[in-house]
Amino acid sequence: MGVKKHIGGHEEGVIPQIEPWIGEEELRQLAEVVESTWLIEGEKTHLFEMKFAELVGCRHAVAVNNATAGLYCCLKALGVGAGHEVIIPDLTFIATANSVIWAGATPVLADIDENTFNIDPASVEEKISSRTRALMPVHLYGQSADMEAILAIARRHGLVVVEDAAQGVGAKFQDRHVGGLGAVGCFSFYGNKTITTGQGGMITTDDEQIQRRCLILKNHGRTEKGTFIHHHIGYNFCFTDLQAALGLAQLTRLDHILERKRNSIELYRACLSELETVRFPAGDPRCDAVPWFTNILVDDPGALGAHLSKAGVGTRRFFHPLHRQPCYRGRWSEEFPTTDRVYGQGLSLPSSATLTEDQIVFVCQEIKNFLGFKKL
Ligand SMILES: Cc1ncc(COP(=O)(O)O)c(C=O)c1O
Repeated sequence: MGVKKHIGGHEEGVIPQIEPWIGEEELRQLAEVVESTWLIEGEKTHLFEMKFAELVGCRHAVAVNNATAGLYCCLKALGVGAGHEVIIPDLTFIATANSVIWAGATPVLADIDENTFNIDPASVEEKISSRTRALMPVHLYGQSADMEAILAIARRHGLVVVEDAAQGVGAKFQDRHVGGLGAVGCFSFYGNKTITTGQGGMITTDDEQIQRRCLILKNHGRTEKGTFIHHHIGYNFCFTDLQAALGLAQLTRLDHILERKRNSIELYRACLSELETVRFPAGDPRCDAVPWFTNILVDDPGALGAHLSKAGVGTRRFFHPLHRQPCYRGRWSEEFPTTDRVYGQGLSLPSSATLTEDQIVFVCQEIKNFLGFKKL
C-alpha cells in the first residue's frame, strides 16, 4: 500500500483516524515523575497550569481529571443549576450536554452555522428565555465559534459564557486564544486531542472567584491538600503529576503539532481540489483554526468511510446530533435542519500530526478511486 509504519504502535499499513504524537520528551518527563515518587497533583501540575494559562492568555488555569468534570465545575462555579437553561449547539460531543445535566440545569439546543459547524448566533437568539443563564459555545473540530456575536448576545441579555474548548487547543478568534474569551473555558486532553495527557482537562479563566470555586469543587471541598477540615462538599476531580509530565512534554511540541496539522489540511485540499463532490468547510476568516480533525462533506460519508476502511484508512462520521441521541430521546422536539444536513454529509479524515505526506496522498487517491477518478 506504500504506507509507512509511524509513531503510535498501530498495525502496519493502517492509517488511524487520529493518534497522539508521543516521543522521547514524554518519556523523560514521565521518568522524572516516577523517580520522584510524587505521582499525585503537585509541582508539575502547577507548572503545567501556569504554562497553559500563558498559552491561552488568561490569569488562571485549573487542571482537572477530564473536561466533562471541568465543564461541570465551570457551571457550578458560576452558580448555574436547577431552574436554569444553558444554550448549547446540537452538533457536539455528548459531554457538552451531560455536563449541563449534571449541574442540574437544562440544556437547550441551538442549530449550527454551516460554514463553521458551530453554534449559530441567530438560533441562539431564538432560544433565549427568561430561564436562560448561560451560553456554552463549542469550538468544534478546532474552529472557533463566532465569539463576537456570542459575547454580544450574552452582554445584551445578561448571560454568562462558558466556552467548551475541549477541541480548541491552538485555535484563535480575532487573534485571541479560545477558552480565554468568555467568563470561563475548558479544554480536554483526552487521548485523541491536539495535545494529550491520556485523560485530563483544564479550566481557564481571568476570574479569581471562579478559579477558587473550581479548586474547591475538584478537591473535596478545600483549596489545598493536606488539610482535613472541609468547609464544602466537593468531588475528587484532581489531576496527577503523571498527566502533567505528559502535558508539559506535549506543550514543547505544540507549535510543531499545529504546523503539521495545518500543512496536512492544505495538502488534503490541494489533492482533492479537482473533486467537486468533495467539499471542505468554508470556515470563518476571523478564526485562526487548528484542524483537530480534517473534515470533508460528501454525498455519502458512510459509503466512503466503508471504502476507506477496507483500504486501511480510519475515518469517523461527525458527532451524532444531540437531538437524535437515544439517551436523550423525547427531550427536544424542534427541528435542526443545518445540523442534520451537515451530519448527513460529514466525514473526518485521518488527522494526526504524525501523518506523512505519502499517507495523505494515499488517502486522497483512495477517495478518488471511490468517486471514480483518475490516478493522482
Ligand atoms: C466538545 C467536547 N466537550 C467535552 C468533551 C469532554 O472531554 P473529556 O473527554 O476530557 O471529558 C469532549 C471530549 O471529546 C468534547 O469533544
